[in-house]
Amino acid sequence: MRIVESPQDMQRISKDLRLVGETIGFVPTMGAFHEGHLSLMRAAREACSQVVVSLFVNPTQFGRGEDLAKYPRTFEKDAALAEQVGVDFLFTPTDQAMYPDGYATYVEVERLTEVLCGVARPTHFRGVTTIVAKLFNIVRPHKAFFGQKDAQQTIVIRKMVDDLNMDIEIVELPTVREPDGLAMSSRNKYLSPDERKEAVVLYKSLEETRRLIETGERDAGRIKEAIERMLRSAPHAEIDYVEAVNTATLEPLNPLQGEMLIALAVRVGSARLIDNVKIKV
Ligand code: PAJ
Repeated sequence: MRIVESPQDMQRISKDLRLVGETIGFVPTMGAFHEGHLSLMRAAREACSQVVVSLFVNPTQFGRGEDLAKYPRTFEKDAALAEQVGVDFLFTPTDQAMYPDGYATYVEVERLTEVLCGVARPTHFRGVTTIVAKLFNIVRPHKAFFGQKDAQQTIVIRKMVDDLNMDIEIVELPTVREPDGLAMSSRNKYLSPDERKEAVVLYKSLEETRRLIETGERDAGRIKEAIERMLRSAPHAEIDYVEAVNTATLEPLNPLQGEMLIALAVRVGSARLIDNVKIKV
């Protein structure tokens, strides 16, 4: 595995790979790798002849007062894990290389970014789409791999790719979970042992929702109440949102019909955790 720091070098490498007919699979990340990240790398490894992973803790997607400074940074361990799963290039640019002094250009997807996580994090998705657009221009992938754990992010990126005519296939892979069901996340590291035990309530409430819908419940209000009741049983959990939305438009659904995303965000101690399920009726 080659570690590449400079965007210019990475762009040249990708250009040369394309010239000789290689297919480039790309996994953008912010590091602190867990099985969720590794599952995306393995999928890219299977689907493409060359795999590029970026590791960049992107400052523009963190709001004021969010966890940019304390975001876990475990470069040596990450590099070893990426190498083990067969990644060809680990792209690790500096902040200065990605956002040099005088940087002025941002990519913004409207509407889809104003709901769910966009309410509490109004500048977050603008940072995500900006960095992902930049990374796509540098890495020039044929396919890029994202996790369902961040379902809204994948939907926003698909919209950007579509609206801006980017010739890249977006592949979404299922959420990888801990044995008790908690979605793997770099932010789980912020949980105390008690909070960690309680955090499983996110998954449990979503699975209970799946059961309610599969047994015929179609009323969004009653579904949300059932989830909120379960979440309130965890003393350290503070609900940010619980929503049942259409997977394409992210608009609220009531009654529940078609393909839906049940998504939630919950503060557990100092960590803001998200999770979701997709259900079709
Ligand atoms: P990060 O949080 O590091 O996540 C990188 C990728 O891993 C994302 O596509 C995310 O959805 C996926 N992922 C995280 N946890 C997962 C899990 N438990 N199961 C499956 N996939 C999981 O998302 C970002 O970084 C950034 O916003 C980024 C896209 C890199 C832009 O900076």
